[in-house]
Amino acid sequence: LPVLGVASELFPLLKTGGLADVSGALPQALAPHGVALRTLLPGHPAVLAALADPHEAGHWPDCFGGPARLLVGRHAGLDLLVLDAPHLYDRPGNPYLGPDGRDWPDNAVRYAALGLAAARLGWGDFPGAGPVPAVLHLHDWQAALAPAYLHYLGDGRPRPATVLTLHNLAFQGRFGADAWPRLGLPPEAFAMQGLEYHGDIGFLKAGIHFADAITTVSPTYAQEILGLGGGMGLDAMLRWRAAAVSGIVNGIDTAVWDPATDGQLAARYDASTLAARRANRQAVEAAFGLPEDPAPLVCMISRLTAQKGIDLVAAALDAIVAEGARLVVLGTGDPALEDALRAGAQRHPTRVAVRIGYDEALSHRLQGGADMILVPSRFEPCGLTQLCGLRYGCVPIVSRVGGLADTVIDANVAALRARVATGIQFGTLDAEGVLGAVRRAVALFRQPAAWAALQRAGMAADVGWDDSARTYAALYRRVAAARRPLPV
Ligand code: ADP
Ligand code: GLC
Repeated sequence: LPVLGVASELFPLLKTGGLADVSGALPQALAPHGVALRTLLPGHPAVLAALADPHEAGHWPDCFGGPARLLVGRHAGLDLLVLDAPHLYDRPGNPYLGPDGRDWPDNAVRYAALGLAAARLGWGDFPGAGPVPAVLHLHDWQAALAPAYLHYLGDGRPRPATVLTLHNLAFQGRFGADAWPRLGLPPEAFAMQGLEYHGDIGFLKAGIHFADAITTVSPTYAQEILGLGGGMGLDAMLRWRAAAVSGIVNGIDTAVWDPATDGQLAARYDASTLAARRANRQAVEAAFGLPEDPAPLVCMISRLTAQKGIDLVAAALDAIVAEGARLVVLGTGDPALEDALRAGAQRHPTRVAVRIGYDEALSHRLQGGADMILVPSRFEPCGLTQLCGLRYGCVPIVSRVGGLADTVIDANVAALRARVATGIQFGTLDAEGVLGAVRRAVALFRQPAAWAALQRAGMAADVGWDDSARTYAALYRRVAAARRPLPV
């Protein structure tokens, strides 16, 4: 089944968050299930530079204000289609933000172009681009206009089925109505039954309206977004489409994330050689300038934003240290939160250390050397770092929301007795809640046999893609068959 993924980022070419990990992992995960998944990306410099054997599959003389080419190529086993439109994408660095740290002023047009390119590929407009997809798999608001273009500009042509995946409802692609004339849509599309969203233009809103199926990245987040609090203003739309909404939990690439083969680690190990983690722990202490110490070492690897509950950690920090734990943080984000963490490190120079930045290799070393990973998110569609933590015996301490609720088994009495616990969950989203969870983790850490059992159960957990890939493949087939019968 030919499927076209459409995403604004993809690991390892361009990544700002988990979306890139998912779009980068799905093609390989789906291949064994009979799905040929290629991915359409905007032609950012990092993407164009990495494209091997590119050839031009089509020319688009006026792509939203400038000429564009559609390139077909490969990278690291991934089949890519790239919209090379220099006037839209030839900008270095973060794909969404300018050098001033603010959204590019033409983001509406930049991602409208991505959506229309996907639609045109779905109509077969570029004969050099290979098989016409039976399904478009659209990721987040950046790809979400494709179903609207298919609807309004289709002229009765056959169209592919569409699946829209919501990775994070906090980012909705909402733009002022002044962008409307540039989107190339008929006037009637600026309506409640179309793109209009509270007087503005809503990319994600339009995708939710027109997509054949809507998925999100965990079953619990799927439930949460249908409710008043979790829907972030889109809950009524989502309830209206509830029959089309489902949750499919993310996995991680278990070849990239494997402590037995991970070249970033000082010492490699598996569930039967956990003692080898000690060398990795020392490497983390050295990297963060902390003295060697047997006290439990908690890490965080995160965007530093309110979503991730960083302010709760800052507020609980002194008490966490008083419990006997140490904390190392790798992340970037909100300057105020960065400052709050730095201040904590200054108050506790031998117990707390912060590295502001993005460092893929260091993130591996933290998973391999820290004792626990703290993920106290206010909401979390899926979350990937707790999955890496499970795989690395770095015990997750998580809030009981979204995908965190779905992927970690809390070490309550029943789970401990049944030996199925894999981490700590907490329900109260405040500093007290974080502190209570760390306190429970520290108490367990001080019982070496119980702790090792927790680590081993986590390392045995299935955090790979296979089950979810099967579910996506079945969904693709279902939506494709509903559009036109599949050849046998
Ligand atoms: P989100 O996409 O909301 O940021 P996820 O947990 O789904 O959260 O994905 C985050 C991804 O980015 C993970 O692969 C994580 O390891 C990685 N990551 C986040 N911050 C950093 C950082 N500062 N350095 C290295 N990797 C990071
Ligand atoms: C988003 C979410 C995160 C999820 C990721 C990949 O960035 O915040 O929870 O894991 O997308 O789906």
